[in-house]
Amino acid sequence: MADRKPFVGGNWKMNLNATEAEQLVSALTTTLGDVSAEVAICPPFPYLASLGRQLSAAGSAIKLGAQDVYYQSNGAFTGEVSVAQLKDVGVQVVLTGHSERRHVIGESDVLINAKTRAVLDAGLEVILCIGEKIEQREAGQTDAINAGQLGYGLAGVTAAQMERVTIAYEPVWAIGTGKTATPADAQAAHAAIRKTLAFLYDEKVAAATRIQYGGSVKANNAAELFAQPDIDGGLIGGASLKTDDFTAIVQAAG
Ligand code: 13P
Repeated sequence: MADRKPFVGGNWKMNLNATEAEQLVSALTTTLGDVSAEVAICPPFPYLASLGRQLSAAGSAIKLGAQDVYYQSNGAFTGEVSVAQLKDVGVQVVLTGHSERRHVIGESDVLINAKTRAVLDAGLEVILCIGEKIEQREAGQTDAINAGQLGYGLAGVTAAQMERVTIAYEPVWAIGTGKTATPADAQAAHAAIRKTLAFLYDEKVAAATRIQYGGSVKANNAAELFAQPDIDGGLIGGASLKTDDFTAIVQAAG
């Protein structure tokens, strides 16, 4: 993990109700009180404001994250939410380019780039998610797909802004399937991603940028994934909904 501080995100996706969300945060503020890794949780939009208040009342270092955002600052965009509105309720980090937004909702690289830049221009942090589909992996295109999604996603993002960018490598075939990339396969993809960052920016930016692995990370496989030199933590879906599992995963990161 080099000298990069490990970073673990919990992406709750479209799960939990208000009571369950509050209970989960309450438990996590206790169990994650003294971990050294950086932690963020990304609840559904309706719960952000109250969970943000709950986290600050508890004096917790857990960051409040959003799963999505729109790139325009205000106006007639029914159903969308702006960066300023997220910031207003205490959001510090925003996911962009998640595979479910790319492949289920149909977001383009251009839209993902606009969202990424809007978040960074407003001073917040981004977790830019990338990753290949199974047919792309089988065709040997993993590194090319990741490089393309990085190039598009980060277009116009400055080297200085990269200090607030984390990359999440989430192979689409590993998300929610129980199939995890082997530590060696994940490491190979992460090393290639870091090379692309060096190409797009420079060695310094590449060495400083954290790259999370996501896709069926569980309490029993987190440690060997996080032990890889280019894996700097994880982006966790299903297992982030359970206090014990998420706590064990964060502890495995450091
Ligand atoms: P799972 O951990 O449920 O596979 O989800 C990963 C993910 O998509 C996190 O963003």
